[in-house]
Amino acid sequence: MTEETLSNLLKEDRRFEPPAEIAEHANLTAEAYDRAAADPEAFWAEQAGRLDWTQQWDQVLDWSNPPFAKWFVGGRLNAAYNCVDRHVEAGRGDKVALHWVGEPEGDTRDLTYAQLQDEVCQAANALTELGVTAGDRVAIYLPMIPEAVVAMLACARIGAPHTVVFGGFSSEALASRLVDCQAKVIVTSDGGYRRGSAAALKPAVDEAREKSSAQGHDVEKVLVVRRTGQDLGEGGWDDAVDVWWHDAVAGASTEHTPESFDSEHPLYVMYTSGTTGKPKGILHTTGGYLTGTSYTHWAVFDLKPETDVYWCSADIGWVTGHSYMVYGPLANGVTQVMYEGVPDSPERGRWWKIIQDYKVTIFYTAPTAIRSFMKQGREIPDRYDMSSLRILGSVGEPINPEAYVWYRHVIGGDRTPVVDTWWQTETGMIMISPLPGVTHGKPGSAMTPIPGVAAEVVNEAGEPVANGSGGYLVLTQPWPSMLRTIWGDDERFKDTYWSRFRNEGFYFAGDGAKKDDDGDIWVLGRVDDVMNVSGHRLSTTEIESALVSHPKVAEAAVVGAKDEDTGQAVCAFVILREEAGDGGDDIVAELRQHVRKEIGPIATPRQIMVVPELPKTRSGKIMRRLLRDVAEHREVGDVTTLADSSVMDLISQGLTGTA
Ligand code: WTA
Repeated sequence: MTEETLSNLLKEDRRFEPPAEIAEHANLTAEAYDRAAADPEAFWAEQAGRLDWTQQWDQVLDWSNPPFAKWFVGGRLNAAYNCVDRHVEAGRGDKVALHWVGEPEGDTRDLTYAQLQDEVCQAANALTELGVTAGDRVAIYLPMIPEAVVAMLACARIGAPHTVVFGGFSSEALASRLVDCQAKVIVTSDGGYRRGSAAALKPAVDEAREKSSAQGHDVEKVLVVRRTGQDLGEGGWDDAVDVWWHDAVAGASTEHTPESFDSEHPLYVMYTSGTTGKPKGILHTTGGYLTGTSYTHWAVFDLKPETDVYWCSADIGWVTGHSYMVYGPLANGVTQVMYEGVPDSPERGRWWKIIQDYKVTIFYTAPTAIRSFMKQGREIPDRYDMSSLRILGSVGEPINPEAYVWYRHVIGGDRTPVVDTWWQTETGMIMISPLPGVTHGKPGSAMTPIPGVAAEVVNEAGEPVANGSGGYLVLTQPWPSMLRTIWGDDERFKDTYWSRFRNEGFYFAGDGAKKDDDGDIWVLGRVDDVMNVSGHRLSTTEIESALVSHPKVAEAAVVGAKDEDTGQAVCAFVILREEAGDGGDDIVAELRQHVRKEIGPIATPRQIMVVPELPKTRSGKIMRRLLRDVAEHREVGDVTTLADSSVMDLISQGLTGTA
């Protein structure tokens, strides 16, 4: 972000007071900040008390071997029991847990907590029958159907960490995750609905399984949900491996006794892009994670579980779907909406119709979605009655003030606070956010760390910056839902997050931020080689490796360029191999297709430019800053550190193939 946009941002002076009725009945009040800061461990112990433990912990936090934390040491619990059974036992079995809305119109299903309990027990029995035991990893590659939630909870119930892979990822991406965490079983479906048609998933699983075997890891079983009923094709079913969900799960007993696991038992691994080509498997464990997600879901959305209808539009394949669709909300026993499809199918008002139909009171989505609705105009949402909404949330990337104000005004009828929530896959839970009944809203600012969390903006030397200045966002104290490590790679865990400010013992988030004159935090975006496209993290190096794996490409450099709709967009610069000549007329289309296949559609470059050279420093490092200037149509900045300063002229002259 340039200094100019930054100062424009900080001139933003619209303020929104918390509505009186929310303030009056707020779950947390201003005193919580001081109380939590005075004794964080006592505060977190109080929050852990929202869960049912079969054995009380002896110690809240063991930080004797940083950065490896242990929370609620000695405590035992079962995550699925906490998300499902205990609500049934408390007499709320008939309460709807999920209002599931399929993409095809009229294709809906309501699951009560009692029904969810039956299905989770059946799936737990079926997984056990397939040979899964505590500690085994299970990959889940499913569309947004109830079985995805059931499968996750069934894994949690038997202590088998799940790794959910976004259904939009390629077989290649799935394979690398299967290998990295050595998954024993995959839960998938024949396909899913997207924009009105059935899209296959199972063939990608078969391919991934083959690729995984080629790398020495055999997946034992594949459990397949029949969602679309589409033909699996020649060779699309292997009796030795594939098992139908409707046989294995539907036929299993609904009785299952949950076992208690240690508070630090692994709950799941979620892969996310880092600065190298290899995704990082972020490990979350049980007690602290569930404490953090249920507390934040209750505090930040000011949740009233008896009356609220909550909807988070995130896909289950991302951390937001884990923390704020599955674990947080279900631990809190709320009724929620789950939607299978895209926002504009069969028509552009689909989301708003869902809010109207189910009288949604809390809605949580991403700025990129808000911006695309803004573009379509307010006439569409204006057709629906959304007066049930009382709180709106935003996550995934900085929300620009215009989008924030539009969201509040058009979707929220100017009544609803907007909580701009900053957090990461690694943090597991919301860390910086306003509290809707306490904090006034400032469009564009995530405001302050929530009670129990300690964050700072620091300079290179690790010293807090003065109000009005910018620096690096760090977390200065451990928190219960923090990642425990990178799966199988403690060294990378230490290097990535804990080495930059080793002396201070701070967690380095990888984001730049600024404190305004009031000391409130404005998160500005990544300071490393990670892009944020539509709220999804993508690594520049990962896309570069995908491009270079194409036989016609000699070298590639990728940058994230500012994009009105997606926040950032992928722009690639490639040098072709000599023998490829000019690559042919379709070279750009061919390369875009190649990236889709290697990583997935979300990584498809918006633009690919074929260039004769790349700008490099004398030490051979690509100067992405200059490429970003080209991609964003700016005058190219300072080139004095380039090994050959004429390269930028060559690039400007030689640009071809702009898609
Ligand atoms: C960015 C998603 C500004 C940030 C929960 C972070 C945000 C990355 C915000 C994590 C926000 C997330 N304001 N930036 N409210 N929320 N980010 O792991 O760059 O997919 O580091 O987790 O998204 O992305 P992740």
